[in-house]
Amino acid sequence: MAEIQTAQLNLPPDVIEFGAGQPSPSLLPLKLLREAAENRLGNDDASYLAYGAEQGDGFFREVLANFLGDHYPIRVELDNLFITGGASQGLDLICTLLSRPGDTIFVEEPSYFLALRIFADHGLNIVSLPMDERGLIVEALEQKLAHRAPAFLYTIPTFHNPSSLTLAEARRNRLVQLSRQHNFPIVADEVYHLLAYSAAAPPPLASHIESCPVISLGSFSKIMAPGLRLGWIQAGAALMERFTGCGLLDSGGGLNPFTSGVMRSAIELGLLEKQLANLKSVYRQRKIALSNALKERLPDSVHFVEPDGGLFIWLEFADRIDTEKMLAAAQQRKVGFLPGIKFSGQNGLNNYARLSFAYYDVPKLEEGAERLAAVIREYKG
Ligand SMILES: Cc1ncc(COP(=O)(O)O)c(C=O)c1O
Repeated sequence: MAEIQTAQLNLPPDVIEFGAGQPSPSLLPLKLLREAAENRLGNDDASYLAYGAEQGDGFFREVLANFLGDHYPIRVELDNLFITGGASQGLDLICTLLSRPGDTIFVEEPSYFLALRIFADHGLNIVSLPMDERGLIVEALEQKLAHRAPAFLYTIPTFHNPSSLTLAEARRNRLVQLSRQHNFPIVADEVYHLLAYSAAAPPPLASHIESCPVISLGSFSKIMAPGLRLGWIQAGAALMERFTGCGLLDSGGGLNPFTSGVMRSAIELGLLEKQLANLKSVYRQRKIALSNALKERLPDSVHFVEPDGGLFIWLEFADRIDTEKMLAAAQQRKVGFLPGIKFSGQNGLNNYARLSFAYYDVPKLEEGAERLAAVIREYKG
């Protein structure tokens, strides 16, 4: 009989899969969510079992606005929050509402590989813009804008997936100016903003929703648990009307009212704050351990910038190395990673690889670094 599948990820126990960019089972907050659910279900209010308000439950948006206001250097208004079924679902809805098949959108090179899949589902034409160590190169965007404005620009401004880089503040301001001047929406995927391990990140692009068409995406997947399928969009009034007036919500009501009810309790009881603090402390230790293990063991020809936040280390190999080919050799040694080409909008980045430090504890990360170093030493290309 076929095995009954529950989780998306099913890894053989003897493999160390650095491609897994999600929390390890030990970090999934079962106890906290039991407490939050008991609190919500112990209440006589059954409103979250009805079709929900289109924009998301008002009490939930209120506590979420306060939570974000505590972490962002700006006030967050509940009217500017729209509840989603996670950032992926939010992105899909943005594509539905702001683009038509065949439209051109701008993305970063590299970009989040599964966002590229969503854009492909919508038949969008992808134009990739280069990045350097300060994030998206805004001059390259200006050059493209001289020809045409995109349906939208998709960026991961803070602790980027896969590069972990953060867009410099001056560039953020220029990007916002360009969006106003050329009238194109910025879709800012800010799901890693709160996972900062040293200095706080620059203000989120969400800070600009009043003055420019920015749509900021957030997610409980990264700060609580991915199985909740819950996130939010932060946007100004005009864009908000597009979301709340769409056919999906007219039929089904607001997204995930029940889970929103449980998360409302989790925020009110201080449990989200607790989980976020725990995740940051564990990920920080894991990030340091993997970075050190890689610095010690990898040859000098492999480069990376130690991340200040997020979940990833982006390795750059010598030009002649094709990481997709090297992956076959890695699998023999029971270690895995995501080859750079997956993150490219133009079939490039062949000499890069993404590792995540989210899924394994420190001894496993060190063992994985050891295996990877052996693969690299032996791999002749
Ligand atoms: C940049 C980025 N956006 C979105 C997601 C998916 O978020 P969600 O689980 O909220 O759909 C991820 C998850 O890896 C991500 O890295």
